[in-house]
Amino acid sequence: MAENLQISEGSKEEKYALLHKQIVSLTQGESDAIANMANIAAMIHATFGFWWTGFYRVCNDELILGPFQGPLACSRIKYGRGVCGTAWKEERTQVVPDVDKFPGHIACSSASRSEIVVPVKDKSGNVTAVLDIDSEHLATFDECDREWLERIVSLL
Ligand code: SME
Repeated sequence: MAENLQISEGSKEEKYALLHKQIVSLTQGESDAIANMANIAAMIHATFGFWWTGFYRVCNDELILGPFQGPLACSRIKYGRGVCGTAWKEERTQVVPDVDKFPGHIACSSASRSEIVVPVKDKSGNVTAVLDIDSEHLATFDECDREWLERIVSLL
C-alpha cells in the first residue's frame, strides 16, 4: 500500500511505468478497440489530470471523435489538418509545446496551450486512430511522454 502510494506520487516516469502495467493487464483480456480506447483515455486522464485526453478514429478521409475524457471537442478533423490530422498524415507523433505556434492548430478549447498527438497503427503500419492529449499549460509534453504514450497505444 505504502509502496503503491509512493509510486502514484512519484516522477512522471514512475507514473507511466505503473500506468503501462495497468493498461497491459486491462487490454489483455479485451479485444474491442473502442472499449480499450475508452479505458486508456480514462486511465491516462485520471493519472495526470490533463485538460483533455481522447482518441480520434480514422474513418475514410477524416478523423472522427472517439472515446475521450474532458470538455466537448470537434467531431471531425480532415486529413492533414490541425495537430491530429498532421500526426495522421506524417504517421508520427507531434509534440507541440505552444499550440499558438503550430500552423493550422484546431482550437477545440481556448484553454488548451500545449498538446501531444500519437498515431495508433495496425500491424501493417497503417494509422487507424490518433491519441490526442491537451494541457492547459505550455510545454507539458516531452520525450518521456512520447515514448510511454507510443508504448501504450501499441497495446491497442
Ligand atoms: N487541437 C487538435 C484538435 C482536437 S482537440 O484539441 C480535442 C488539433 O489541432 O488537431
